[in-house]
This record gives sequence, C-alpha cells and structure tokens, in this order.
Amino acid sequence: MPHLLHGGDYNPDQWLKSKEATWKEDMRLARLAGINTLSVGIFAWAALEPEEGRYEFGWLDEIMDLMAENGISAVLATPSGARPGWMSHRYPEVLRVNGDRSKNRHGGRHNHCLTSPVYREKTLAINTALAERYGKHPALGVWHLSNEYGGECHCDLCQERFRAFLQDKYGSLDELNEAWWTAFWAKTYSDWSHIESPSTHWRGEQDIHGLHLDWMRFTTEQFVDFYLHEAAPLKAITPDVPCTTNLMGTYPGIDYFRLAQVLDVVSWDSYPQWSGTERDVRTGAEAAFHHDLTRSLKGKPFMLMESSPSATNWRPVAKLHRPGVHLLQSLQAVAHGSDTVQYFQFRKGRGGSEKFHGAVVDHEGTENTRVFRDVAEVGARLAELDAVVGTDTPAEVAVVFDWHNRWALDDMKGMLQQKTGYHRTVVDHYKAFWEQGVPTDVIDSSLIAEPGYLDRYKVLVAPMLHMLRPGVAEAVDAFVRRGGTFVASYATGYVDENDRTFLGGFPGPLRDTLGVWCEEIDALYEDDRNALEWDGRSYEAFDLCELVHAETAEVLGTYGADFYAGSPALTVNARGEGQAYFIATRTGEDFLDDFYRGLVASTGVERALAADLPAGVTAQVRTDGQTDHVFVQNLNPTAAAVDLGAEGILELAPFSTAILDRPRPQV
Ligand code: GLA
Ligand code: ZN
Repeated sequence: MPHLLHGGDYNPDQWLKSKEATWKEDMRLARLAGINTLSVGIFAWAALEPEEGRYEFGWLDEIMDLMAENGISAVLATPSGARPGWMSHRYPEVLRVNGDRSKNRHGGRHNHCLTSPVYREKTLAINTALAERYGKHPALGVWHLSNEYGGECHCDLCQERFRAFLQDKYGSLDELNEAWWTAFWAKTYSDWSHIESPSTHWRGEQDIHGLHLDWMRFTTEQFVDFYLHEAAPLKAITPDVPCTTNLMGTYPGIDYFRLAQVLDVVSWDSYPQWSGTERDVRTGAEAAFHHDLTRSLKGKPFMLMESSPSATNWRPVAKLHRPGVHLLQSLQAVAHGSDTVQYFQFRKGRGGSEKFHGAVVDHEGTENTRVFRDVAEVGARLAELDAVVGTDTPAEVAVVFDWHNRWALDDMKGMLQQKTGYHRTVVDHYKAFWEQGVPTDVIDSSLIAEPGYLDRYKVLVAPMLHMLRPGVAEAVDAFVRRGGTFVASYATGYVDENDRTFLGGFPGPLRDTLGVWCEEIDALYEDDRNALEWDGRSYEAFDLCELVHAETAEVLGTYGADFYAGSPALTVNARGEGQAYFIATRTGEDFLDDFYRGLVASTGVERALAADLPAGVTAQVRTDGQTDHVFVQNLNPTAAAVDLGAEGILELAPFSTAILDRPRPQV
C-alpha cells in the first residue's frame, strides 16, 4: 500500500433496509474524513448465509463495488466471530462448553467450539465462497480472519484433542507424570483418558501447574490450528492477499508470540483509557508498550485494526476524548510502527450493546460533529505521511514479556499471590525507556532462544523472568559475554518450562551470568517499606525483597532496613565483554528512571532525540535507513517545550505531536 491506511469496521449489513439513504452517504462521508479503507463482513454470517447453504452475496457485491468506485480498499472479514442461529440450533456441538462444564446457549459472539467438525466445515465453506467471489475484486486489500479470537472450550471433542496433544508432546504417561510432578497429592495418571482440562467447577486439577500450562499451550495451538484452517482456502485462492486476525494487546488466554508466527501481518485493537489529565502519561506508556509488543511479534510494521474515535462503551466510564487526544493516540500508533489507523466503528449502529460506542459517523448522521472533525484531521495528517509506510523501528533495547512466564506467575502460590504484578512490572521497566525516547522492542523467550536473535540488541531487560524456558539462559549468557547488557530482577529463574523449580540455587541457570545466589525472597505486607540505598540516594522498596549473596557480582546498592539491612539489593556482574545487573527488590518509578537513565548513557543505545525530554514528553523514530521520522509527543494536559539546541525550542501544545524529519546518521 502506498499510503497509511485510515478507516475501520463498517457494518453496511446493519443498514440493508435503508441502504439507499445510507450507503452512498457513507462513501461521501468516508472520503470527506480521508478514509481509504473499511473493514466489512465482520459478524455478517447471518446476512451472508441466512439459511444453511444459501448464500446472499448481493449486498456485499454492491458495497464492495461502491468501495472500489470510491477508492476505498476492503479489509474483508471471514464471519466466524459470530454464527447464525440456525447453526447452533441444528448442530449443538458448535456451542462452547465452559470451564465449569456448562454448555453455552446460542447468543453472544466468539463462543464456538474450535474442534467441532461442523463449525470447521461451515467456516471452510463460507471462506471458500468469499475467496472465490472476491479474490479478484479490485477493492480487496487484506483478509481479516474472524475477530478477536479468545476464550476456551472444554467440550468432549476438545478434551479428546487435548489428550492427543499431550500424547504427542510427552509420548508416555511416565514422562507426563514426571513433567507435571504428579506425585504431589496423589495425582499420578495411570490412563490417558483420565486427563481432563482444568475445571472451574471443582478446583479439580488446577493445582497441577504443569497441566494448566499445557492447557494454555494447547488452547493457543487450537487457535493457531483454527486460524490455519480458516486461512487455507484464502491462501489457496488469493495467495497474494495478506491475512491477519485482530489481537488484543496482552490478552492472557493466547500466547501471541506463537499465534503471530502464522499471521502475514499482525493487527490489534487498542482502547487506551485516556482521561484528559496527567494520568495520560501512564496511559500513554501502556499504549506504547502494547504497540511495541505488537510490532515485535513479527518485527515489522503492524495494523492498528481498531481504536475508538472517542468514547469506549465497555469501559465503566465512557469518557470522551479531550481535544487533541484522538490525533495523539492515532499518531502514537504510527510512531510505534503501525501503518494504519482504524476504528471501531465507522457508522454508529442503532441497536445492540455498542450503539453508544464512539464512531466516525454519529446517530446525528452528518459531518458536523466534533468527533468527525477529529477523524478528518487524522485523515489529513496521515495523508502527509506516505514516506512512513513500511519503515522500521531501530530498537537496540529489548524488554521481555513472556506469556508462559505470566501463566506460571499467575498460578504460583507463595511470595505475593495476589500481587505478583508481572504485567505492571514489565510496563514500569519499559516506561523508563519510553520516557527517554529510546526505541524498544518487546520480545519473549521463544525469540531470545532463536539463534542470533539477540545480536541486534545492546540491552536486554527481563523483569521477573520466573520461568526460564529451554535455551533462554544459554542465549542470555552468550549475549552478555559478547558485550550485551542484561538486567534481571527479583523472582527470576525459579522454574523450568513445566513449572518445576530449579535445584541448586536460584536464579537457576542464570546464577553464573548474574553472579548472584538468591537464597530467600521476602514478601512484605501492603504498608511495609524497606529501602534500596544506591548512589547516595535512598529509594522506597516494597512488595518483594530478595535476599542475595553476591558471588562474582559487585554490590552497587544495599537494603536500608530489616534483618537484611546492608545486604545486596542491586548488583552488577562483569562477564566476558558485557555485564549483568540484578535488581533484587521492587521499587517505584523513581529508581527505575534514575537507573535506566544511567544505563542508557553508559551503553550508548540510540535515542530518538538527543535532547532532554521533559516529563510526559516522548520521542519515537521510524526510519527507512536514509530518513528518520521522529515523532515527538506531549502526553501532558499542559504545554511543554523541548530544547533542540542549535535548532531552537520545539513548543508542544497539550496532547500534541510534532514530526521532525532528518537524514539518518550513517555509521
Ligand atoms: C472489540 C471488537 C469490536 C467491538 C469493539 C468495541 O475490539 O473487536 O467488534 O466490539 O471491541 O470496543
Ligand atoms: Zn469444544
């Protein structure tokens, strides 16, 4: 695509009765807003196949033609996100079974059984028909498979498949029993048929963490497999049309690093909870983290498939976007690697639970609304950014966010059960780089373990990497020896990929790399405080304090209180050409900011702007290797200024963005 895409979900099938009045008007409004793409067919199964085997493509033909005439490309969806009633009633096997073993009734969406042969057959048939009919249509741009895959099914068919997955993985029950440590509480399995998915009805086998981990892995594989099943006819008939499915940031139920392997392009739905206050700096950091994660899934530009042009109906408080915020969030996605800005939704529906969700065209129906003008402003800005399409993000820093590790931490009993805070902690560390305008990737263990993958980075930060999957410790150690800088924290290196602890001292296989032995970990009550004394300052330490022996590491900081006062709280281990830091306790952002500011300076990693960025102002860069496009954003509700030295002062209005182009410094 030569332009950044701008558009979003569009449901003309909700307006069939009044199409004469609305459809042509929709095209006029879309063009007026600078919209060049619309996503159609999502949830349109009942309109496309009103009776089993009888397809109604007439309306879609018409809308696809209209879009082509208006220069609007189609993100064309397969309809499997929600199914027509006839299917559920004729073939109850398509209905999902919940963790408590209750079977769903018809209704809602995203609730089919992924194993059901009927569901697979129906999906295959309609996807084939869509590809045959629209494969050569001039409007067709991208395939949008289903919608926000999620949830899990515990029906008998899925149980069978789960057992087959385990048999394939372990080969023998003996191996499985060993991996899951089933001697605990007499859980040893003596027959494959006794294995069941974790139940929510009775705690069941939830205490077997290996079982739960494998269930999550299996569920991920179910989605991978279902996606491939859906994609097969599209790939066969339209091999050049990219396929995607819209992800949900850090949705816990699917390992997105695995799912992304089978996508042509990654896309996601972003709904930051903007408030119009100083809290938006944190909100902005969280949104940026999710954008960077989404980009890193495949290491290339992604699609912002959905965002709200204003209020988000499912938030408990559906606050409007303050002036400037819509443009800010849209350009933020581009700054972090998106080649599209898309919305849910184009025309606001009249009924159903999303009738009050933000939309480009409101119930009022014209272009004379504040939100429409905001959208048109984004359209105009994006139209000036053709040079950004396809450009890269030159990250020399990687922060680790790992689904399997998160599943293990969520299951863990001990330390701080309710507050392991993995997600939050990773964002805290990430934010310190974001605030300095340091381009950062967000990667997982599968990428770390890939040969050569870490070569591109100078700094690797892995907060709370409790689980070390095979190959990770070795790759990290090699990275450090080659001259990389590694940062780990408390709760690192406790368990293997099956959630069995390492023996011989934590942090397990990273003990030599970090040069520390973590003998115990202390969990603090909510109002308990310790301190991390470092570099002449004292920072609050709370939640978790690891008791550390510096073996080969040098002690940089110590605890300020309690029976371990004076013992190591921050260490660095020189190893080969590089070094490995260990932060033994949880601190506030004050410490992380100071620590990472020093680290960025000492490692010389690239910053988008050499200038000092005021609080709440960040900079990101996209580059084609010749020209850098630097996005400077002010996330504050107040004005800010950046001193660019010889180039003068850059004034930034509240919630505003400046884009500076410069030749890329050649090394
Ligand atoms: C999700 C879905 C959309 C819509 C929006 C509303 O992202 O994919 O269909 O429900 O949420 O925010
Ligand atoms: Zn099922």
